[in-house]
Amino acid sequence: MRILEVKDYETLSEEAAKIIAAQITLKPNCVLGLATGTSPIGTYDKLVEWCAEGKLDFSEVTTVNLDEYKGLDHEHNQSYWYFMHKYLFDRVNIRKDAVHVPDGFNPNEEEACKAYDEVIKSVGGIDLQLLGIGPDGHIGFNEPDDCFHLNTHCVDLTESTITANSRLFNSIDEVPTKAYTMGIGTIMSAKRILLIANGENKKEILKQAIYGKVTPSIPASILQMHADVTIITDQKISD
Ligand code: F6R
Repeated sequence: MRILEVKDYETLSEEAAKIIAAQITLKPNCVLGLATGTSPIGTYDKLVEWCAEGKLDFSEVTTVNLDEYKGLDHEHNQSYWYFMHKYLFDRVNIRKDAVHVPDGFNPNEEEACKAYDEVIKSVGGIDLQLLGIGPDGHIGFNEPDDCFHLNTHCVDLTESTITANSRLFNSIDEVPTKAYTMGIGTIMSAKRILLIANGENKKEILKQAIYGKVTPSIPASILQMHADVTIITDQKISD
């Protein structure tokens, strides 16, 4: 595990974008696993900037996103489909048929999850997976649990996640209570993993995930078992 402690969010975003850009340069037809949330916005801004300057080409890239709220359609401004188009897909030269997000509007949980696993399989697996980390240690929407879930599944969001995400909705009652998420098994199958964590509120959970025991009650702790993980944080976690 490689841990980069950087001075601020701007540097974190630039370093993360460099790793993603390097992946695209080395393998133009790579598969990127992507995340939503506030953490990657600066990273996506950098990628957009470099693409506009002609330094980066997304024309052969394929993406699979980690998760999507159950019950929100593409047009909903808090759906992850909407987020990804707003912050990245509509601003770079990626093919619109090369981007994949779980189908949050499919009410049939089993069908939606199976279909998404088929998509991930059909694109040949993930070369580089970008992750954020939740205040409770979740990755994707893999919430603290008593086991690690392998494949795409439907989760009941925890109070902590609903509260954390309510800042983006008009009221807490509007926050969906369920989501479809890529499983831990799929995340761990990615060839490389890049986790970004900024802000004081991520410091303690990040320390526990990296230096504590590997447990499904802190889903991100599983990353200790992956052979190629880079963590970039603007917090001092090594003291
Ligand atoms: C989002 C996702 C989540 C977020 C996490 C951190 O696709 O997978 O695990 O990465 O909730 O969110 P932010 O970045 O908003 O703190």
